[in-house]
This record gives sequence, C-alpha cells and structure tokens, in this order.
Amino acid sequence: MSIETPEPSSLLEIRGLAKAFPNVRALRGVDLDVRAGQILALIGENGAGKSTLLRILSGDYRPDAGVLSLDGAPLTLAGPRDSRLTGIRVIYQEPEIVPGVDVAENIWIGELPRRGPFVDRRRLEARVRHDLAEYGFQAVLPMKAMGHELSPAQRQLVEILRALKSNVRVLALDEPTSSLTDEEVGRLFALIRRLRDRGVAIIYVSHRIREILQLADRVAVLRDGALVAVRPARDLTEREIVRLMVGRELQEMLRRHPAAEDRVVLSVEHVSSNWHRDISFEIRAGEVVGFAGLVGAGRTELAKVIFGELPFDTGDVSIGGHRMTLRRPGDAIRAGMGLAPEDRKREGLILVRSVVENASLAILRRLSRFRFVRRQLERRVVGEFVRRLNIRTPSLDQEVGKLSGGNQQKVVLARWLAAKPKLLILDEPTRGIDVGAKAEIYRLIDELANEGIAIMLISSELPEILGLSDRIIVMQSGRITGELPGAGATEEQVLGLAMADNLSTLVRAASVQEEAQR
Ligand SMILES: Nc1ncnc2c1ncn2[C@@H]1O[C@H](COP(=O)(O)OP(=O)(O)O)[C@@H](O)[C@H]1O
Ligand SMILES: [Mg+2]
Repeated sequence: MSIETPEPSSLLEIRGLAKAFPNVRALRGVDLDVRAGQILALIGENGAGKSTLLRILSGDYRPDAGVLSLDGAPLTLAGPRDSRLTGIRVIYQEPEIVPGVDVAENIWIGELPRRGPFVDRRRLEARVRHDLAEYGFQAVLPMKAMGHELSPAQRQLVEILRALKSNVRVLALDEPTSSLTDEEVGRLFALIRRLRDRGVAIIYVSHRIREILQLADRVAVLRDGALVAVRPARDLTEREIVRLMVGRELQEMLRRHPAAEDRVVLSVEHVSSNWHRDISFEIRAGEVVGFAGLVGAGRTELAKVIFGELPFDTGDVSIGGHRMTLRRPGDAIRAGMGLAPEDRKREGLILVRSVVENASLAILRRLSRFRFVRRQLERRVVGEFVRRLNIRTPSLDQEVGKLSGGNQQKVVLARWLAAKPKLLILDEPTRGIDVGAKAEIYRLIDELANEGIAIMLISSELPEILGLSDRIIVMQSGRITGELPGAGATEEQVLGLAMADNLSTLVRAASVQEEAQR
C-alpha cells in the first residue's frame, strides 16, 4: 500500500529494506516508492548507502530484511538475471564492456542476430543504426568503435542502449555524470527525460545538488543508511538539500575557534614579481588568513612564489623570522611550508600511486634513514592520518585516482600534515568536492589552526573565506587592494575590493573615450 496516492501510482515499492556489512549498517529500514514516468533522485553523501540500494535492486546484494514489489506483485531477486527479467536495470559508473568487439556487438551482446554460425552484421548494423539515430547518438557513439576505445560516457550509453532494447521498466543510474563533460551530461539528461516521458521509472543517484534540482521530479535523501526525506523537487532548495544531506547548516559547518598567537610565522615584505606588485603581509601562528579575489588576481601565483615554485624579483619572504632563499619547493618544504595546490590532479597527486605512497611523499626524507624508506613506519604514520582525516579508502594501497575528489584532497592534506608544517597554503581546498567532505575539511582547518599552524587560505567561495578567516586579504591584478577583519566582513565589502580597480579602469576608459569624442 502506498502512502502517497494522488500522484502516479508507484511501480516499484521498497519497504523496510536493510543491509549491514561487517562494520556498518549501510541501509536501516528504507521505505521508498518509485513511480512510472517520474525521475526520482536519490541523493546523499559518500557512504550514505545509495549504491548499496542499487546493488540490491540489481540482484547483486541480498538484503538482510525488507520486501520489494513491482506492480503490486512481490519481487524476489536471487541474482542479476532475475532483476533483468523483471525489467529493472542498474547502470553503474563503469559498465562492463567487451573490449575486443565493437559498439554494435556490445549493445546486442547475448542476442546477436545470426546467419548460420556467424553474426549477421548487416541486420545488426541496421538495428544499431536505427537505435543510435532514434536517440541522436550517431555522432557520440560510433557503431564500429571497439569496446576498449570507449570513454566512460560512451560505455554508459552502450549500457543504456542495452537496457532500452530489453523493455526496461525501472532504470537506475549510479552517479552517471561523475566522469562526463558538460555536453555529455546535457545529452544524458535529454535521454533520461525522454525515457521518463515514455513511462520508465528512473532512479537517479547523485551527490550533486544542482544537477538533481534540474532533473528530478522527486528527491529522496539518504543519510547514514536512513531515508531522511522524500519531497517533490520543486519544494526543495539547494540549501535545504545540503541541510538534509549533512544534517546541519553550512553556517554551523563553518564555525571557527580563533587561535591566533602573536608569533609571526610568515612574513612577506614588498614582494614584486612577474605577477605581483609590492605585496606585503604577515600570517601569525594559529591564524587563518583568507585570500579573496577574482580569477586572475594573482593568488595562486602568490602561493607559488612563497613556495619557491615561481621566482620573484624584489622583496623578502621570511619564515619564523628567517629570511628565505627560495629557489625551489624543496627549500620551502625544509623551512616548514606545505602547499595543497589548486589543481590537485595535475600538481598534487600521483593518481596511479597508492594512498600510502602519495601521503608519505613529503616525509620521505625523514623516514628514509639508511637510504631506504622505512615501510613500517611509513604505513603507521600514514595510517594515523587516514583515520584522523576520515579518508574513506578500502586500504592504504588503493590507487589515489580511484578515490572520490574529497578523499583525494584529504590525501594531499595528510601528506602535509605528516610533515608537520609551520605554514600551510591551501589553494581552493574544497573545489569540486561534495558537501560532507567540505564540512570535514573546514573542521580540519579549524583544528590545524588550533595546533598553531599558520594557514594561507585561497578560495573563490566567499562563504568559505568569510566563515573561516581571522583576516581577509583581497587581491586584484597582482596587488593587495585591501584587508578586512574576518569577523563581520560582508560579501559586498570583499567584492568591492576585489573589483575596485576594474571599476576605476572602466571609469577611466569611459572618460578617455569621452575625451576623444570631444
Ligand atoms: N561490499 C561492501 N563491503 C563492506 N562495506 C560496504 C560494501 N559496500 C558498501 N559498504 C559500506 O556501506 C556503506 C554505504 O556504502 P554505499 O552504498 O557505497 O554508499 P554511497 O553509494 O551512498 O556512497 C559505506 O559505509 C560503505 O563503506
Ligand atoms: Mg555510491
């Protein structure tokens, strides 16, 4: 029996669904109705239980408790085959594709048209051409591209086309957009909407809130294995969804405990470089100084100058009162600096290496007595940080490239924390990571400051700058245009300073024009 009667009746009903793993209750009694002709978004932080729910629907996992029914008839899913036969299809991030055959055969695998012992290519290609044309995929999914050549997006399309030819009634997609470009996302959304309009019940799993609000008819929020809300998408705002997902407001996540001491850690005096003009500021122990500015203001370059990655012409940089000769990052690291760069994938991490290898990079010198790395010690030190930073990884040996963005960023932080820095430079530390991981990084910044580490925080997210900084320095075109106390500063004040010059330049340009016209 369904509680929500007025809307389209539910096709798939889930009641009391529970599943536990050795150390975690992944689902704790979930009730959910999935309706034909609707897109239901299932949203929640990493680890909330979304994929577990889908794996039960696909027959990969057996639930510990709960019942499922399709069209009012009880459903027993003893394996993936059962699930498919009943018209339920789950598309995972990286669908299984046969590498050695082309797109056409991959789509029709298992049901290839035959002519004697051979595949009837002519009939196969006619069918596939028809399907690709119907969904507008001819250009994005070349029929003769081989399985091993396909991008994750193309693999997903192949899997969706497989599902469509099998009279799918419930289509579930697990975070399909995480590896797609914007254009691919647009195309995927168009397809999902078409399927909805044809009466397919869609379950769309994501942790991207904006995406969900664009696409979904209804939104179900999972937190720690429990369903905390199911609402029509039009009744929800981004902020409300964040609150439901993490169980508290962004404002609370951003709470700071001021810890600034008198001791100056970083002192930058009259630094000029290719990118900067006369930059001077200090950061004291335990102080978080936020750097605000528009793109191109020179903040990332300033971080690199201080870290010895970019040269400067004149001026001084001192750490703990000692003037530094910064010729390369090694000089900065030895002096007690750490830098978590903006582009962690290109500059911060070696994606194909393990968590332990990445996290221990900055301490190798300290660990490698007798000219070899002391593996045991390395694992112990990194293991401690994995626990402290709540890095979700199956093991220390996991390839970093396989972790979520938030967990990758925590590996970068773990590396610098292991090196016990005096100054930590964080360049856009929460870019591209989900709200839950953001909250954890905010808490960590607060903790680090409390331990006396000086923090230079570069961020383009104003709430983050305003919420975390003891002082805010605003930059524009390579210069500091102003400084504000962290407490009480407003977005308008920061933006005013960030654009000050642009405005006057515009005014100047306008008056020059007037002058010329006269
Ligand atoms: N096969 C498994 N073995 C042990 N624990 C698992 C397994 N699958 C999921 N979990 C755990 O169950 C919880 C929910 O995971 P998951 O369903 O993958 O969450 P989500 O997809 O929302 O990120 C997590 O704590 C995860 O570590
Ligand atoms: Mg998942």
